[in-house]
Amino acid sequence: MKLFLDTANVDEIRKAADWGILDGVTTNPSLVAKEGRNFKEVLREIIAIVDGPISAEVVSVKAEQMIQEGKDLAKLHSNIYVKVPMTTEGLKATRRLSSEGIRVNMTLVFSPLQALLAAKVGATYVSPFIGRLDDMGQTGMEIIEEILAIYRNYDFKTEVLVASVRHPIHVKEAAMLGAHICTMPFSVMEKLPQHALTDTGLAKFLKDWEKVAHK
Ligand code: G3P
Repeated sequence: MKLFLDTANVDEIRKAADWGILDGVTTNPSLVAKEGRNFKEVLREIIAIVDGPISAEVVSVKAEQMIQEGKDLAKLHSNIYVKVPMTTEGLKATRRLSSEGIRVNMTLVFSPLQALLAAKVGATYVSPFIGRLDDMGQTGMEIIEEILAIYRNYDFKTEVLVASVRHPIHVKEAAMLGAHICTMPFSVMEKLPQHALTDTGLAKFLKDWEKVAHK
């Protein structure tokens, strides 16, 4: 499973890239707004750090404008994937952008049927938001299982990008289900290598090593 960071913070992206585990980055308008910086400037910095898929979202709501915005974003770099919302206008835009070779990540997906449509219009990625479903009392991960089953039934090539991840259990469950990608906040990614037994185990190894002649 590919691991993406869901952030527009370049310091976080740099840290995770240094660990060697970062496959890509997803951003959205809210994450970009949080940084209080120019969108294109931030994107250029991310492009310089990460050699992998970087999702940048359109903010138009009409297909023609989405297409134009998507083309402009895609021109920035071949690693840019254009994020388009799951609306009927978004479906139209995705069909056009995909047919012109621009990779689209269909976002704001909350049901398996929306994911079926994303695949039919040629989206490269589909982003189901599982945490937001959990927040309202529906088990978000269930739709990941259903989407993967539907895609398998028809041999769709669209990759399932598990989004709106809240904690490491979401990451583990996404991997158990065989999701292609999981995007997560830095606060979740930094927890993945941690285990209390690793820390105490290492402390003991180092202490015992002091008793060993090794010079
Ligand atoms: O980037 C899309 C998604 O991951 C947003 O997550 O935490 O705002 O529900 P969240």
